[in-house]
Amino acid sequence: MELKGLVLSGGKGTRLRPLTHTRAKQLIPIAGKPNLFYALEDLVAAGITDIGVILSPETGDEVRAALGDGSSWGVRLTYIVQEAPLGIAHAVKTAQPFLGDSPFVLYLGDNLLSGGIKHLVAEYRQTRPEAIVLLTPVEDPRAFGVAVLNQAGQVVRLLEKPQDPPSNLALVGVYLFSPAIHAIINRLKPSGRGEYEITEAIQGLVDGGQRVVAHQVRGWWKDTGKPEDLLDANRLALSQVVRRVEGELLEAEVIGEVVVEPGAKIVRSTVRGPAYIGPGALIEDGYVGPYTAIGKNAKLMASEVEYSILMDDAQVYALPYRLDSSILGQGVVVDGKGNTRRHTLQLVLGDRSRVRL
Ligand code: DAU
Repeated sequence: MELKGLVLSGGKGTRLRPLTHTRAKQLIPIAGKPNLFYALEDLVAAGITDIGVILSPETGDEVRAALGDGSSWGVRLTYIVQEAPLGIAHAVKTAQPFLGDSPFVLYLGDNLLSGGIKHLVAEYRQTRPEAIVLLTPVEDPRAFGVAVLNQAGQVVRLLEKPQDPPSNLALVGVYLFSPAIHAIINRLKPSGRGEYEITEAIQGLVDGGQRVVAHQVRGWWKDTGKPEDLLDANRLALSQVVRRVEGELLEAEVIGEVVVEPGAKIVRSTVRGPAYIGPGALIEDGYVGPYTAIGKNAKLMASEVEYSILMDDAQVYALPYRLDSSILGQGVVVDGKGNTRRHTLQLVLGDRSRVRL
């Protein structure tokens, strides 16, 4: 039976506040494109066209509006609302009517993989194991699911966010499953943190002697769970962009791998790639340094920015300092124009905003 896709775009996004007070974390732009689009495009590139999307009641409408009916990717999308974020395995359970007896790729909507999943899907089609999981060594495995392999490279144990990790191999948020996973998920109990854990379900397959294949990630992988991960993901994604200048340049110096979308305008400014300038954005008397993504209709005037993300409609004027390692949410305004009293700051910041000076 043909593989389906299941993309998870529910959950709470608490670790990305304040950016996720108002928007789905999976829609945060990485190199100018919502995180979720990368997951979808990986599935599409692997020939998967029947895709379920898990939504939360809070951010579901926004995700639906961003993805539409999937026709722009040539796929069929089925939206599935998960009433509460009770865990990844719970999301799969909620999707059981959609998944039926099909094998499927489970793709967490806040994960990014540089190498795509084509080779994994091809392998699954040929060898039909009960699961394929992806692993990668990480510095702090306590933040992830962790796998222990035996000498033959087979998975023997899986633990979700262990205090005392038995290995440094993290589980990546992309999994291929046969329908055998459903019976195990249906028997799961909530974990210590109150979630139905996909990691425990995979352990169930291992315990039942079913074939679970583990591969190490090709290229880079990023889980954009925390703000610093967003900047890192943005850097990694930008390092793959190829120069394409379609906007207007007036006395502008645009160096290296830079995308300037149609309708963007760069005036008396320097942009040093890799960088992304979104449609309708205006850069005037400014500097945009490497690893920066500027959103749709954003404005940067008489200011400098580097290694940062400015989301759609963000505006930065006459800043006396260079913005660095910063994330400005949609419509955020940073205005240095009236800065005559040098030692004062005037701030209007939403709940849990962060300012580092
Ligand atoms: O990123 C890899 C890690 O993802 C794995 O190493 C862990 O084993 C796995 O449990 C997961 O951990 P996270 O703590 O990062 O998962 P998070 O709660 O961030 O959820 C991942 C995605 O799934 C996110 O886009 C939100 C969505 N989600 C999550 C839950 C708990 C849902 O749609 N529904 C849910 O109930």
